[in-house]
Amino acid sequence: MRAEQPSATAKRIARSLATLAAEPLVGQLVPASAAELSRRLAPRSLFGGALFGARLRRPLRQVLERLTIPGINLHYALRKRYLEETARAALHQGFRQVVICGAGFDTLALRLHPSFPTVQFIEIDHPATQRHKLARLAVNSSTPLQRESNLHFLPLDLTTRDFASQLAGAAGYRAGLRTLFIAEGLLMYLAPGEVDALFQFVRGPAIAAGAGSRFAFTFMEPRAGDRRLAFRGSTRAVDWWLRLRGEPFKWAIGREQLPDYLAARSFFVRELATSTTLRQRYLREPHLSRLSLAEGEHICVADHV
Ligand SMILES: C[S@@+](CC[C@H](N)C(=O)[O-])C[C@H]1O[C@@H](n2cnc3c(N)ncnc32)[C@H](O)[C@@H]1O
Repeated sequence: MRAEQPSATAKRIARSLATLAAEPLVGQLVPASAAELSRRLAPRSLFGGALFGARLRRPLRQVLERLTIPGINLHYALRKRYLEETARAALHQGFRQVVICGAGFDTLALRLHPSFPTVQFIEIDHPATQRHKLARLAVNSSTPLQRESNLHFLPLDLTTRDFASQLAGAAGYRAGLRTLFIAEGLLMYLAPGEVDALFQFVRGPAIAAGAGSRFAFTFMEPRAGDRRLAFRGSTRAVDWWLRLRGEPFKWAIGREQLPDYLAARSFFVRELATSTTLRQRYLREPHLSRLSLAEGEHICVADHV
């Protein structure tokens, strides 16, 4: 990440959701409140579509996808749906704290926290990205953000290693509560040692809680042929763009290695969702089944042993 700039990939994801939400075929896959907040957090740039009318945006998106990662926008929308269902299920099972690491311009905590007033929601992100998010939420005062006392923001560079103590001292954080940690689209940007440290960080409060905390995260799987850390079908232009933005992929793990990796860190796989899982869950209807969906990033929901 560039030290002083908000994450370009986080912006990209929020814009992608807002664009997809406006499309007739797939728009219903994005909750309306998520689309509205995404538009507010990451308004379209001129090149990104503000210059084009609504009718031109869909073909423009399709061309851009073909030049970069086919099916990536739908992948973002479905991975978010899956994680939202994971979060809601955990809350109904009695989890009382949700910590979102590398939250970017995600809207989950913003949308859920008013409905779960007894649950603590904490967003952690790189200071440059979080500053930008909070500034965007402060504008547009005609529709002020409903922010209750159970929503907290912790600016923190997760590569600095002292995050366990920072979280412990953060406003709103309650040690001992059954906690769901979420790291969506984050681990691939960390070096292997940093991912390891993040697992320790998640494990610390989990042990303190003694009530079985949960970690829902997404991870890249190395490609079978060339071992490149990239989505299937992703062009080299994407690697170049990510490097240019200071956000190259650094970490990936094979599905077969994951159970042992987690076991060594006192977790086990509760759920593993691939693009096939997402397709079966959300794209079953005939008019959706032929849509292109990016492959290569999976979702794991892991429980602490
Ligand atoms: C690809 S974005 C994903 C954003 C969001 N989770 C989503 O899926 O919409 C990656 C996020 O990780 C955050 N991030 C990357 N490196 C980080 C670091 N060292 N410390 C804290 N956050 C970091 C970025 O600021 C950004 O918000």
